[in-house]
Amino acid sequence: MGVAVITGAGRGLGKATAARLARDGHAVVALDLDAAAAEATAAAVGGSWHQCDVADWGSVEAVAARIERCDILVNNAGIWRFHSLLDTTPDDLQSVIAVNIIGVVQCSRAFAPKMIAAGGGSIVNLSSGAAWTNSPGVGVYPATKAAVISLTKQMALEWGAHGIRANAVGPGLIVTEGTSGNYSEERKIERGKSVPMLRVGEPRDIADVISFLCSDDARYVSGQVIYVDGGVTAGRAAI
Ligand SMILES: NC(=O)c1ccc[n+]([C@@H]2O[C@H](COP(=O)([O-])OP(=O)(O)OC[C@H]3O[C@@H](n4cnc5c(N)ncnc54)[C@H](O)[C@@H]3O)[C@@H](O)[C@H]2O)c1
Repeated sequence: MGVAVITGAGRGLGKATAARLARDGHAVVALDLDAAAAEATAAAVGGSWHQCDVADWGSVEAVAARIERCDILVNNAGIWRFHSLLDTTPDDLQSVIAVNIIGVVQCSRAFAPKMIAAGGGSIVNLSSGAAWTNSPGVGVYPATKAAVISLTKQMALEWGAHGIRANAVGPGLIVTEGTSGNYSEERKIERGKSVPMLRVGEPRDIADVISFLCSDDARYVSGQVIYVDGGVTAGRAAI
């Protein structure tokens, strides 16, 4: 079992992934912009933590210098500011691109050399069903998540010979701290009706697939994206 570095591990999908990878026997290193949240996750799963802003190269570099080994990197930190393209401010644009794209590149560049030194590893990048199905009013977010898929393929091609596998997971409608504002109990049931499996997702639905991608069972899987969305990206549930 190895060392699993997870960004945005303070809550939501990152926290669920930390719990699952710890259960799998990995030593979890929880990174988050929110230091208290990272510390709480580390305490809950018996791991370590660092405050880290993935959008800031200096912050990523400083944290990477304090982590000797890395076998698994889950690039989970991500933000969204849902506005139409015309209502997207320059700050929205720069922030979402900085965290969702630049953050993924920076963390991967910081930790891949450690994986190469260890003889290989697994990178899992959080994309989104939104990379497949755009919808009005979500601005630049889907484009950033489509970029994550392209970056995943690039990592698989450039680092495969070093034993690094890179894959992406595309969550659908998952109830987390970040999205819970959209999900009253009533709304959960309502949104669930738009999903072929007739329910919205839970963080463990994503964490379990990330666990698989990090496991030896996925040893020949690289450069792929798995949508974990109850069938949403398959098309319409009914006509
Ligand atoms: N929840 C969903 O329905 C859903 C769907 C598709 C994709 N995703 C993607 O999954 C990932 C996690 O989503 P979530 O719902 O758990 O989000 P969340 O908002 O609940 O948690 C995100 C975590 O990332 C941290 N974070 C934000 N900016 C950061 C930065 N610059 N550096 C380090 N940490 C930072 C936050 O502090 C927070 O702890 C994101 O990349 C998101 O785009 C989520």
